[in-house]
Amino acid sequence: MIAITLTIRQIKLLDDILKQLIKKTQFLASKEFVQHGKTSVFNHSLNVATISLKLACFFNINIDEKSLITGALLHDYFLYDWHDKQRCPSWHCFKHPKIALENAKRDFYVNTIEEDIIINHMFPLTLNVPKTKEGWLVSIADKFCCIVETFRLQKYQTRQWNIGRQAKNPQISKPNIMNEPRRILEASALR
Ligand SMILES: [Fe+2]
Ligand SMILES: [Fe+2]
Repeated sequence: MIAITLTIRQIKLLDDILKQLIKKTQFLASKEFVQHGKTSVFNHSLNVATISLKLACFFNINIDEKSLITGALLHDYFLYDWHDKQRCPSWHCFKHPKIALENAKRDFYVNTIEEDIIINHMFPLTLNVPKTKEGWLVSIADKFCCIVETFRLQKYQTRQWNIGRQAKNPQISKPNIMNEPRRILEASALR
């Protein structure tokens, strides 16, 4: 599944949505917060968007790609360091989808599919079951990325972006198949 390569059109769509989010929201600030291991929330969100798209391609599922990507990029848009016990709300695991959705709605237009992706991505932990195909794909991709990032499975690791501020101890990993879309994105984002 990982070996699936995104099409140029999909990479461009991901690139366009990412640029919009960087321009209109505080998405870039998520580079400053570590999510799993040494992976920032920013990179985690990009990984989840990429893997969600690949899952849809692998299983040949007809999806709304724009909503899938937007929802995946914003699914952890909670904008705080959950390792910081003073700033992190209690029960972060259960509460952060709601916080992410509130932030997303405050800063950006969020449609019903994107809302489903964000609010239900922690299923089965939160018992909020995804209602859409896109919601299910992001929820599954999120678990996959969590494992890859937490245990630093080098084979699947992706590179960090070189724009904005880095998360603490950013991870430098070996190039691999998942880096291809990222390299194109990096190049276009820096233009
Ligand atoms: Fe999450
Ligand atoms: Fe996540």
